[in-house]
Amino acid sequence: MKKYDPINPKAPQFLHGGDYNPDQWLNMPSIIDEDMRLIKLANCNAMSIGIFSWTTLEPEEGKFNFEWLDDIMDKLHKNDAFAVLATPTGARPAWMSQKYPEVLRVAPNRIRNLHGRRHNHCYTSPVYREKAKVINTKLAERYKSHPALLIWHISNEYGGECHCDLCQNAFIEWLREKYNHDLDALNKAWWTKFWSHTYTAWDQIESPAPHGELYVHGLNLDWKRFVTHQTIDFMKNELEPLKRITPGIPATTNFMGTYKGLNYFKFAPYLDVISWDSYPQWHVDKKEYLLGSDIAFVHDLNRSLKGGKPFMLMESTPSMTNWQKIAKLKRPGMHILSSLQAVAHGSDTVQYFQWRKSRGSSEKFHGAVVDHCGHENTRVFNEVSKLGEILKQLRPVIGSTVDAEVAIIYDWENAWAIDDMQGLRKEGRDYEATCKMHYKAFWDLSIPVDIVDMESDISKYKLVIAPMLYMIRGGIDKKIESFAKNGGTFVATYWSGIVDENDLCFLGGFPGPLRNVLGIWSEEIDSLHNSETTGIQMIEGNPLGIESDFEACQLCDLIHSESASILAQYKDDFYKCRPALTVNAFGKGKAYYIAFRSKMDFLTRFYTTIAGSLKIKKAIDVELPLGISAQVRTDGIKEYVFIMNFTNEIQEINIGKKEYYDFITRSTINNKLSLESFGVAVLEKTTNP
Ligand code: GLA
Ligand code: ZN
Repeated sequence: MKKYDPINPKAPQFLHGGDYNPDQWLNMPSIIDEDMRLIKLANCNAMSIGIFSWTTLEPEEGKFNFEWLDDIMDKLHKNDAFAVLATPTGARPAWMSQKYPEVLRVAPNRIRNLHGRRHNHCYTSPVYREKAKVINTKLAERYKSHPALLIWHISNEYGGECHCDLCQNAFIEWLREKYNHDLDALNKAWWTKFWSHTYTAWDQIESPAPHGELYVHGLNLDWKRFVTHQTIDFMKNELEPLKRITPGIPATTNFMGTYKGLNYFKFAPYLDVISWDSYPQWHVDKKEYLLGSDIAFVHDLNRSLKGGKPFMLMESTPSMTNWQKIAKLKRPGMHILSSLQAVAHGSDTVQYFQWRKSRGSSEKFHGAVVDHCGHENTRVFNEVSKLGEILKQLRPVIGSTVDAEVAIIYDWENAWAIDDMQGLRKEGRDYEATCKMHYKAFWDLSIPVDIVDMESDISKYKLVIAPMLYMIRGGIDKKIESFAKNGGTFVATYWSGIVDENDLCFLGGFPGPLRNVLGIWSEEIDSLHNSETTGIQMIEGNPLGIESDFEACQLCDLIHSESASILAQYKDDFYKCRPALTVNAFGKGKAYYIAFRSKMDFLTRFYTTIAGSLKIKKAIDVELPLGISAQVRTDGIKEYVFIMNFTNEIQEINIGKKEYYDFITRSTINNKLSLESFGVAVLEKTTNP
């Protein structure tokens, strides 16, 4: 395990700050001066600026106005804060849409958008690319030596797709290259004989459309791949002047969790640091720990995108949002807990949307550090400032990472294919939710997990879990075989090994290329109505030592064991006594197959047993009450254990005999840790066992 450098070694502290829009307040200079005072008071040190400033920066085509930004950059520097400086392409000036309509995005129905909103440019348009390059070049030239410049924030939440003629042509060019100019190869990959969809010329191909082609799954998949490719291509165009002029300034673009429109794994190599915007809807019911686990999954995904490198929590709300159904306030303690949760999973920053509530337009009621009252005497400001103090204490944690022995495969292309397929059930296929359920078993056990995709290297883990691996791509079948052969434990579930990377079914028996390693043949799969369940009975004396019965719901795979041993069987229906859980010895390792969709109780028992037998490391080797999560970051020498209370009650936790230093209370503790409702402790072991 290594210790990573700070995101920019110029700032070896935790970055704390938020999206700052001083351009909305330029006619009220006293507000900006007040911001500077408040930034310090809030213990903030990194402000994201310029995200939507294009019109202020270039009010007329080719006429630039940087004075206001010079002033802000200088003021930030004078006040010991850094700039996370954005390129402004997330929204564009009206003059540009008016003069060059090609920059406007075309919807899947082929209707061109009017000017408005944001995030709606055509990512192929040469005009838009050129305009982006010009403004980015100017920004880089102007601020390359400015001491406040810390990180480039590329655009904002790239997303969506454009179906204009320029994009159609680019799509066809991309396909030509992908299929080596062989249209027949494309027709075969897309199985276009079906419904007479065969293409006889490249220019017959169009992007999927609600009033056109929608049911050629290979086309849909390739279109999604193209959208990712083209967005990255647009981003590379944005990055070019920045990397050329300011090679030492790291660049990131803010992701949106598991947003389905873009495969974030493909972006990672082009970015110096990963960042994401996290908006969990806390306090919907009393079960914060269920959401806590789901968000932890996404933090782990973001850390895993660059192989464990610390990431940035680029946006989060200090209080509420303005777009969720109910704008509920974060309860006292939740802001610090949810922010430190990101840190526990590998974030080296805590940043917000937004610094100050705007006065007008659609985000004026979105949570902010500074409210419309304008002063610091608010509950939210106090929590933010207190968190800033805590982050200062946590400085030794910077650059440490998470050493996971377990990986869960969560793959974007697999998600696309499962969502697009017609079969099994229309609703509740729940690929992502299923991955998160498997994850939760480990979250409950305080076991660190990486979230990887099919292109990732899995050889270093002890346990690899691939829920619903419907599609097989990226050579994952071979990687799984050699992983198991070399002693790894692999777990697959129902609905795996069904199609190849073009969404073409494997012939000769499912789970296709995983059949050998799993030692089973899946003959059919039964979909149950939501009100139905089927019993699962563990086989007496099974080597897992699990005795209880369980329930299957929604999906029951009807398999035959070929070389696997049967650990559990169905109890009901016409498949009574057919295998429901198997394990196949493979080389030095093992491959389990869970044939049914289970509830949490089964996953908890199953993974507790497996993790125990593999001696998988926990963040802290004690049993924690329900709703308490422990995570650990390490730099190879020191370990920082975060213990987080996702319940609304005070919790007394037995942390064992070892002695720890608590960074938050700045005291030494052993045996007992008391955590307030939504409380957190960050511990470092002070003695060796
Ligand atoms: C996104 C955007 C921000 C803001 C927030 C509101 O994350 O990037 O500009 O609109 O949502 O929650
Ligand atoms: Zn376009």
